[in-house]
Amino acid sequence: MKPLSNSGPGVPSRPAFPVLVLAGWAVAALLPPAARAQDVHKGQQVFAQCAACHASTASNGVGPGLQGVLGRKAGSAPGFRYSHAMKNFGKTWDAETLKAYIADPQAVVPGNHMPFSGLADAGQRADLVAYLATLK
Ligand code: HEC
Repeated sequence: MKPLSNSGPGVPSRPAFPVLVLAGWAVAALLPPAARAQDVHKGQQVFAQCAACHASTASNGVGPGLQGVLGRKAGSAPGFRYSHAMKNFGKTWDAETLKAYIADPQAVVPGNHMPFSGLADAGQRADLVAYLATLK
């Protein structure tokens, strides 16, 4: 008499979905970064130096919110208490004025109250202003 055997061929195959998930990750990692200029991305990293005082939105903190700062008249963010120096600066923030101000705030707007000594690297300033231009 032969013993009953239950070791049939039906070993269940492993489910395929973990492999598919991993494949999905690999595809996502290989996609090119979103189609935005590299300098904007770098500028966002430089903005970390400003973010302690400035929001990228319209809300004011230690400094005025910087949403829409390009094309905005200096000293005009609603609800922010500016120094007289900034209120009387009289210029509209364009890319060149912003770069100069970020390089040396006290030289460009003497007596203004921004406690930031300036960003020495011209490349970082350009990246930063490219980023600020996206805050609409
Ligand atoms: C320690 C706080 C602090 C840091 C850091 C700082 N700011 Fe400011 N910022 C201020 C304050 C306060 C004012 C308002 C100055 C005044 O009224 O005189 C200001 C004003 C400004 C203005 C004028 C805005 C307007 O509405 O006219 C701009 C532009 C600006 N900051 C950009 C920057 C950028 C870019 C950085 C980073 C490189 C930076 N700030 C870093 C505090 C800061």
